[in-house]
Amino acid sequence: TSTATLLVGLGYLLGSIPTAVLVCNSMGIADPRQQGSRNPGATNVLRIGSPFAAVLTLLGDIGKGAAAVGAGILAELEATHLALCALAAVVGHLYPVFAIREGGKGVATTLGGCLVLSPALALGQVTSWLLIFLTTRISSLASVMTAILTPLYAWFLRPEMLGTLTLISLLLIGRHARNIRNLISHHEPKL
Ligand code: G3P
Repeated sequence: TSTATLLVGLGYLLGSIPTAVLVCNSMGIADPRQQGSRNPGATNVLRIGSPFAAVLTLLGDIGKGAAAVGAGILAELEATHLALCALAAVVGHLYPVFAIREGGKGVATTLGGCLVLSPALALGQVTSWLLIFLTTRISSLASVMTAILTPLYAWFLRPEMLGTLTLISLLLIGRHARNIRNLISHHEPKL
């Protein structure tokens, strides 16, 4: 429907908000796209900035994914369309409208969308991420493994969203290509 199309567009715009860049700018931290892993995300803000700046980035990126799906819920979109709103926010984060080639990796934005789509699924994601991160201290490994597990969680919890959530996972894994190469060659840094 046209409402769904409009809200997918809104989701894309929300996802395009460069949280990490805004947080770093306003706190006098270097541009995260120029430092560390050069990724505008909470992990890299922690690496080059401070825990507080990283938490703000994390909350902002979670918030935009959640807002994109929340708007769809207010408009009473059906479940499959809500999942498209989450996908749109992730695509916006990966390929922001005003900086197509300077987006992030989409982990926190995906979590935000999933929190609203299915709290149980989001709980599964957070649990896997934390278990892997706390045992390895490697953020990207936790993110990639969680992206691999997400379709499995969706299969059990929200099968009608399986296709869209799998697509989101594939996008996330693709964005971690360099991290995956580093993981294989044992060069991926721990936090
Ligand atoms: O959320 C992104 C994380 O999985 C990896 O970030 O900066 O270590 O490439 P980074």
